[in-house]
Amino acid sequence: MALLSVDELSVTFAGQGGGRGAGSGARRDTKAVDGVSFEVEEGQVVGLVGESGCGKSVTALALMGLLPRKGVSVGGRAEFDGADLLSMGEKKIRDLRGSQLAMIFQDPLSSLNPVVPIGIQVTEILTRHRGLKGEPARKEAASLLDRVGIPDPDRRLKEYPHQLSGGMRQRALIAMAVACAPRLLIADEPTTALDVTIQAQILELLKELVDQQGTALLMITHDLGVVAGLCDQVNVLYAGRAVETAGRRELFAHPTHPYAHGLLGSIPRLDAPRGDPLRPIRGSINDKIAWADGCAFAPRCDFYTMECLTGTPELTEPRARGHQVRCVNPVLPAETSAGTAEVSS
Ligand SMILES: Nc1ncnc2c1ncn2[C@@H]1O[C@H](COP(=O)(O)OP(=O)(O)OP(=O)(O)O)[C@@H](O)[C@H]1O
Ligand SMILES: [Mg+2]
Repeated sequence: MALLSVDELSVTFAGQGGGRGAGSGARRDTKAVDGVSFEVEEGQVVGLVGESGCGKSVTALALMGLLPRKGVSVGGRAEFDGADLLSMGEKKIRDLRGSQLAMIFQDPLSSLNPVVPIGIQVTEILTRHRGLKGEPARKEAASLLDRVGIPDPDRRLKEYPHQLSGGMRQRALIAMAVACAPRLLIADEPTTALDVTIQAQILELLKELVDQQGTALLMITHDLGVVAGLCDQVNVLYAGRAVETAGRRELFAHPTHPYAHGLLGSIPRLDAPRGDPLRPIRGSINDKIAWADGCAFAPRCDFYTMECLTGTPELTEPRARGHQVRCVNPVLPAETSAGTAEVSS
């Protein structure tokens, strides 16, 4: 059984301003996550990939029980080791966070306490979850900072968050997340602010955690290089829904949803012929339609047909078992496309 099992997760933010009454101004709710399902097993790395605003962080915050209660409605199920995270009481989920569940946040400055030295923030976790105190806790904290590539860890332990660079703060947060050896780690763009050598070091550390301690890792990123280096299974999100789910190799070899296809086609490759232009996906994530009216990606899609505007497309497996695609007109080799129409209708 999967350690984390997410089933039709949805998150809606109530619109602000105006009111419900006619004539009192528009009040539009935001459906940030719209029926997302995936699983993460122990020792597995699962990626959530997609453009800015597609619902990655909101998915993570919903799983961690960190969304505000007011003005937000969360639907679906999310089971962690058999217990439903979404209906769990505040105290229970707080106990889980930091011990079995940990998250590396996208914004490091707002996740560290600005008036407490880094060392105290790290040792607090070691004391609370691993019972380490005094000198052994300090030594372990220094070794954790060293492992995430922070030079001169003894000095850095005494410093406050504002004395560290953005990349160092991010690494301190990573050290805090791995300090308690969580069973599930959610990493939200953990390496975006870091230069490539440190990025490689952090990815190596996360890999080690997964391989040696069997940690389940939910990796949120828009960096396909990170996905290629780390993920076993990948979920590509678009406008709050998974549009393609597959094993890493399968996805990179056969991206089948036009969005995933475009995403992979838009990254620079060293093995591409000289002068071959990059092919960005046209438009932006704002050019979308509601899923209820068809495929949200249709306004940007090079392959769209009128069929794409007739209700939400279902997930199908037009290529291979376990390779799910939400598209009525997927990108397939010419000889198999006739068969596809049957599968996806
Ligand atoms: N507190 C909030 N109130 C209203 N809307 C919100 C709130 N938080 C997020 N959203 C909206 O939810 C959608 C998804 O946001 P989310 O932060 O999950 O995107 P993301 O995929 O993590 O993007 P990025 O790659 O930029 O971090 C966006 O349209 C965003 O504007
Ligand atoms: Mg985000």
